Amino acid sequence: MATKKKAKKTQVQLVKGMKDILPDEQLYWNVVKEKVFKAARDYGFSRIDTPIVEFTNLFKRTVGEDTDIVSKEMYSFVTPGGDKLSLRPENTAGVVRSYIEHGMLNLPQPVKLFYIGPQFRHDKPQAGRYRQFWQFGFEAIGDNDPVIDAQVIIISYNILKELGLDIQIQINSVGDEESRANYMKILRQYYQDKKKDLCVDCKKRLIKSPMRLLDCKVKYCQEMALEAPQMVDYLSDDAKEHFMSVLEYLDEMDVKYSLDPTIVRGLDYYTRTAWEIVELSNEGKLQALGGGGRYDDLAEVLGGRATPAVGFAMGMERIIMKMQENKIEIPKSKDYDVFVAQLGVEARKKALKLFEELREDDFKVTENMSKKGLKDQLDIANKRGAKYTLIMGQKEISDGTVLIRDMESGVQEIIDYKKVKIELRKRLQKKILDSEQKI
Ligand code: HAM
Repeated sequence: MATKKKAKKTQVQLVKGMKDILPDEQLYWNVVKEKVFKAARDYGFSRIDTPIVEFTNLFKRTVGEDTDIVSKEMYSFVTPGGDKLSLRPENTAGVVRSYIEHGMLNLPQPVKLFYIGPQFRHDKPQAGRYRQFWQFGFEAIGDNDPVIDAQVIIISYNILKELGLDIQIQINSVGDEESRANYMKILRQYYQDKKKDLCVDCKKRLIKSPMRLLDCKVKYCQEMALEAPQMVDYLSDDAKEHFMSVLEYLDEMDVKYSLDPTIVRGLDYYTRTAWEIVELSNEGKLQALGGGGRYDDLAEVLGGRATPAVGFAMGMERIIMKMQENKIEIPKSKDYDVFVAQLGVEARKKALKLFEELREDDFKVTENMSKKGLKDQLDIANKRGAKYTLIMGQKEISDGTVLIRDMESGVQEIIDYKKVKIELRKRLQKKILDSEQKI
């Protein structure tokens, strides 16, 4: 007899560089998101969501064709209709496209927008570096005053500080067009006789964008970058004055920063102020949690009117990783008023109904219908922090009553089913009063 061969199943698996965010970790994500929403409310930023997919050209023109992000890391494809599209590697370009397309320059300026969502870069995965990662970002478009740079930096700083991280801003000015043209000449001269020792990428960068050499991750290129002439010494008067004002505002606000001439950022659209935020507890391997800067020419590059702007974005996986490494406690979100427990099939029907009624009346109510025994259900009620448990069994159903158990004292009382909500409210209110008196 022929033996039946079992079809071999190929195991499904996560795509390399991607990450599942499991329920336990969602507690961290919620804390970070709440902080972002609060900052947006406090500083008057409105939410914008732009599509994950944009025309590839948008990123070529803004982030820059010669940057690693565009030349090596974009997920690009051609649609059946022939459109060349890319998954967004960042969100600033999309936000400015939307600002122009929706005529936001007719709104009172600056237009302050924030976003939160996934970005995609096909980089080499490692700790804190994914191919799909989440960013939140704040963009203030339409004002060139240095006070706006400072305020946006303060927002980025405060969010991380309030999350319990010990951070520092590393700041530089990449100048305006005039300063940069002059500085690039000086840089090319500096690297002229060192060319042969540069990495392959830097040899190419020297021709098109010499400032990018300062940002190279290869060790011997980094050593050369440290000795290189510094942009701040070649700023135009205007750019210098702007930068000094930003620093004065930061001093005034006691923001921890260090001047770092190698901060040029991995995107081409920056002008004047540029910064990154690093966490200090791990000095050895500093990985930026966020970065930002001014991008006064971006709108014009996209065919809009010249519009000064400044903003930043932060990597959410990295922030959460740092919070976990630093054992930052997050409040347990499960804080229920009441657990509905049931014993037996009939009671379960009634309990389902009671649960719905309490939920509709905005009680913080929870249950676990798949548990049958009372002990299991009381354990769960305790874990979820329920103040009371309503218990229904065969007897309570025939009597038209419910048992109410105070989870702190263990005292149980019989109450009329019809008065459950009134009794529950009365007791919850009393608990609040009692706890206020204890303070
Ligand atoms: P960025 O420096 O390329 O700037 O990215 C900002 C942050 O996103 C980084 O500091 C990092 O925390 C996070 N990030 C970047 N790549 C990855 C990755 N592969 N995996 C995990 N996290 C990552 C921008 O994207 C600019 N759009 C910021 C900006 C907004 N400038 C002005 N406005």
